[in-house]
Amino acid sequence: MGLMLATFSLVAHAQNIPQLGQATIAEVVKAMTLEEKVHLLIGTGMDGIINDQPVIGETKNIVPGAAGTTYAIPRLGIPAVVLADGPAGVRISPKRENDTATYYCTHFPIATSLASTWNTELVQSVGQAIGNEALEYGVDILLAPALNIQRYPLCGRNFEYYSEDPVVSGNMATAYVKGVQNNGVGVSVKHFAANNQESNRTGNDARVSQRALREIYLKGFETVIKNAAPWTVMTSYNLLNGIYTSENGELLTDLLRQEWGFKGLVMSDWFGGKNAVRQMQAGNDMLQPGTEKQYNDIISAVKKGELDEKIIDRNVSNVLGMIVRTPHFKKYAYSNHPDLKSHADIARQAGQEGMVLLENRNNTLPLSQTSVHKIALLGSASYSLTPGGSGSGDVHSAYMVSLAEGLKNAGYEIDAETEQLYGKHIEELDEKYQDSLKQIKKLMFMSQPAPSEITMSQEILNRLSNETDIAILTVGRKSGEGKDCIPSDFNLSVDERQLIENTCRTFHAANKKVLVLLNVGNVIETASWKDLPDAILLAWECGQEMGNSIVDVLSGKVSPSGKLTMTFPVKLEDIPSTTNFPMGEHQIDNPTDDSSGFGKNWDYTDYEEDIYVGYRYFDTFKKDVSYPFGYGLSYTTFTYSSPRIVDNGRNYNVSINVTNIGDKAGKEIVQLYVSSPLNPAYEKPQRELKAFSKTRMLQPGETEAISMIIPHEALASFNQDISAWQTDKGIYSFLFGSSSRDIRLTKELRIGKQNTVPVGNILRPKTQISVFSK
Ligand code: BGC
Repeated sequence: MGLMLATFSLVAHAQNIPQLGQATIAEVVKAMTLEEKVHLLIGTGMDGIINDQPVIGETKNIVPGAAGTTYAIPRLGIPAVVLADGPAGVRISPKRENDTATYYCTHFPIATSLASTWNTELVQSVGQAIGNEALEYGVDILLAPALNIQRYPLCGRNFEYYSEDPVVSGNMATAYVKGVQNNGVGVSVKHFAANNQESNRTGNDARVSQRALREIYLKGFETVIKNAAPWTVMTSYNLLNGIYTSENGELLTDLLRQEWGFKGLVMSDWFGGKNAVRQMQAGNDMLQPGTEKQYNDIISAVKKGELDEKIIDRNVSNVLGMIVRTPHFKKYAYSNHPDLKSHADIARQAGQEGMVLLENRNNTLPLSQTSVHKIALLGSASYSLTPGGSGSGDVHSAYMVSLAEGLKNAGYEIDAETEQLYGKHIEELDEKYQDSLKQIKKLMFMSQPAPSEITMSQEILNRLSNETDIAILTVGRKSGEGKDCIPSDFNLSVDERQLIENTCRTFHAANKKVLVLLNVGNVIETASWKDLPDAILLAWECGQEMGNSIVDVLSGKVSPSGKLTMTFPVKLEDIPSTTNFPMGEHQIDNPTDDSSGFGKNWDYTDYEEDIYVGYRYFDTFKKDVSYPFGYGLSYTTFTYSSPRIVDNGRNYNVSINVTNIGDKAGKEIVQLYVSSPLNPAYEKPQRELKAFSKTRMLQPGETEAISMIIPHEALASFNQDISAWQTDKGIYSFLFGSSSRDIRLTKELRIGKQNTVPVGNILRPKTQISVFSK
């Protein structure tokens, strides 16, 4: 009888009160009180916040260590859903109170390393694996990918981003999002938009021309929105042309929703923006992690008639639209046991493919073809590899394969005395760091500094050059969220340079070779020392399998097939944005409102280089670089033949044959650049990447015909005088390159008629920016 009563009252309850999933979203919204609506529009808050300052999320309930949750309203059948970082893997706490189980996630390579694979299938499989871990750990929305443009090598978060080029960024993000969302969990594409520096990141105004926005900073977002339908977008911390991005209706409504057709939810970055009412109006549906002030401000604005409740309803509908798609809403019984073993294999393969071989004189590599067995492993970073960047892009993995382990796993021997010496040094540094942590109360955005070098005496180097077969020396850097790098992070230190010089001199005198490994998340200086060692392998920061991935390439188990997705300049000052980037003058860990007032590059940053970002500048202005965009060596050699362009009325279908003419198996990345006809009304870069493709593993002698699709509109430039995408008539050169500076074949295409597509004249700078021109 009791049970019957209970069932009856449940049914009655469900009949009277609309339940999400059974009733329409509009009906559910109608049944909500204003208070419920506003609760749903802001997150459930965050532990350990002082004065609403940004911190990296800790949500105690549901999934400990996740960045945020939404507010549950059980009477309407609305569950809480869980949001967790990030680009290199799911970031949640690996351990829980009163629980002996562990919740480790796979640490995949950083986004820069993933992009360097130029392999969208592989990136999709990484996304697929990360999405599966999200699903199986009870996470509904993964706060990734991050696809801001790597505008300058010193941005502290470049490691989370893909490239200086929007075609690379947009395609990588598309592949990643498809992979994650295949699991039935969502992503949050971030940080929308023009978030290119960490200094004063919550107060900096990025002042950018409409053209640079359209062609460079927004283009990748447009690609991913149109091709992968991400469930959510995360606005950035910065202002864009005078308005916080999260308060900017032109960005969030006119462009994102109306022009690009985005149908999902927009959320703020954690504590991003200043005015909750304006955020609501602009179309920033949900504020994370949510503060009491935001709640009160919105309620009181509605009550005073300053904020139309229709806007609240619109935003609530978007939140509910997201919630109904989630595993929590669908009551998915997550296992807490994703297949970490098979994901580690994917991480290892992605790490291998993202490595870029910068130098390889006299076939120093692969080691398998030489008699190398015993190795002198030098440089502190060799003994403390960095798997990724710090901040919200960090991942708590169960282990990381060190370089020594990777080498030993593959049967190499490491000089034991050197290993001990460095081991002790690293241990001491770790202890000192742990001690220093005890003194500091605020741990936000802290990361352990890169280990200092130890001086290797000539005596030790002499012994090593006699007793070992090769020297492997690692140069390492650390970077992370909340702080930009400074010029000394770009340049080698005196100690590093000396170690490279002394090792090369001593080993070369003994007729032995030296290999330098770069374990970095950002571009570093190479021009002044790259001729010293025999080989340089850029390993990036490639996650928990790093030691194995590196050795797979060194040994020759696989041929390196990564290429640079950004330019390596000769000097920092060669980059035109150098005068418009903070160079570390005012490094403040957690800027607050009172830390404004430093002016240029702090309160605002003028993007004077305009569209001339990366190779668009270096190639147009014919400046020397250390390594060009798109560059990377292989253990084998490829030739290109038979370029073809077929116009099918909507797209240009472009194809080319690639043949492996070397004696080892390998993969090649073909880049298609286009040089457009000039138009006196506006400048154009010398060439721009429009598409790329990577071959499968080609055996010696094998040929593959690869094809790329270029939609007609992709040839257009943005003419900001008339606010239109314009495809000028004339001759377009399609350049098939192995890098931006190694064009192998060219094919021409004539376009007989100019095509102009007007778009909204939005996001205009409020001040005059003196943009760079030819
Ligand atoms: C970062 C975001 C991240 C969020 C949640 C912020 O500090 O900028 O990228 O998703 O924290 O952890």
